[in-house]
Amino acid sequence: MKNIFDPGEISLVANYIREGEVVAIPTETVYGLAADIHQGNAIKQIFTLKNRPTNHPLIIHISDIAQLYEYAINVPDYVITLAKYFWPGPLTMVLPKSNLVSNLVTGNQSTVAIRMPNHPICLELIKSVGKPLAAPSANLFGKISPTQAKHVISEFQGKVKVLDGGTSIVGIESTIIDSTNQDFCSILRPGMISINDIQEVLISAGIRCLENGNKAVSGTLKHHYAPSKPNFLFENLNELLEICDFYQNSVYVLSLKNTFVQLGLAGTQMPLQPNQYAQNIYEQLRIADESLSKAIAIELPPISVEWRAIIDRLTKSSSKSMELLRTSTHA
Ligand code: TXA
Ligand code: MG
Repeated sequence: MKNIFDPGEISLVANYIREGEVVAIPTETVYGLAADIHQGNAIKQIFTLKNRPTNHPLIIHISDIAQLYEYAINVPDYVITLAKYFWPGPLTMVLPKSNLVSNLVTGNQSTVAIRMPNHPICLELIKSVGKPLAAPSANLFGKISPTQAKHVISEFQGKVKVLDGGTSIVGIESTIIDSTNQDFCSILRPGMISINDIQEVLISAGIRCLENGNKAVSGTLKHHYAPSKPNFLFENLNELLEICDFYQNSVYVLSLKNTFVQLGLAGTQMPLQPNQYAQNIYEQLRIADESLSKAIAIELPPISVEWRAIIDRLTKSSSKSMELLRTSTHA
């Protein structure tokens, strides 16, 4: 069965979605597993395919700012300011939902997460379907998000149709803000649009953007975005050598420097620029995961606002392995 569709087949893919199928779609951040938000069975199917708990809500993807008022209520003015500035783009805003959004999509929450993706093929598809598309990242729950059509095919073993829109250029999931309050917003999940970027746009309106909201976000679970192999963060050569000792040098290194070459280890030198790093990290984690090495060691990038979202993903992906290493080396 044919399961990869090219951009010339958007209307065919739109038909599948209108008929109630779940199809993987390209966005600028990562690929999404999409369904028409009004088709309950298709929405249920998304959760089943991903193996995702039903109380983890989905983002709805729109193609027109006017749809904000259809699917959300009590929209603060600053949300419009942000939408005009950042959309289409990797910013998701959580707002009180309208009656048009079912509890299946929101995991029974009274709020809905909305974004307009910055991907021409995705926008054309949404327009062609004529309804917003609910879509989580197109990976199994807790695993690495896909940035290419072939990642989706391998994740679901060819069981899901994919619209191929090329490689996602942002490379990690959107920034999510809680914008349910009229007077301020807060970051629920960091992304490549940073808190500073948001603050700068809102400063003249006197609206503050705060760190870390407290709404439930599945990407904020401690362990997430993980390869199958044990994977670790290291800050210096000693920490890398400690990981190497533990795995008899069977370690695949993702680092900003190329010292791993001198150490005779397999690995990749990662870009020094955060946007390029983000664009590549999930693909490189997949390559590392498929390598013959027993473990993956990732150099911690600089601690600064431009790297915050990347460090968030790396910390979550490595959290289980790091706990294991700590308990084993201190036993
Ligand atoms: O870039 C992205 O955001 C990608 C692409 C496909 O758009 N989507 C994505 O979806 O990352 P997902 O489901 O993997 O992550 C969406 C996050 C989840 O952590 C979910 O808990 C949170 O959004 N979320 C959705 N609705 C919410 C709501 N009403 N309140 C709080 N968090 C919400
Ligand atoms: Mg996800």
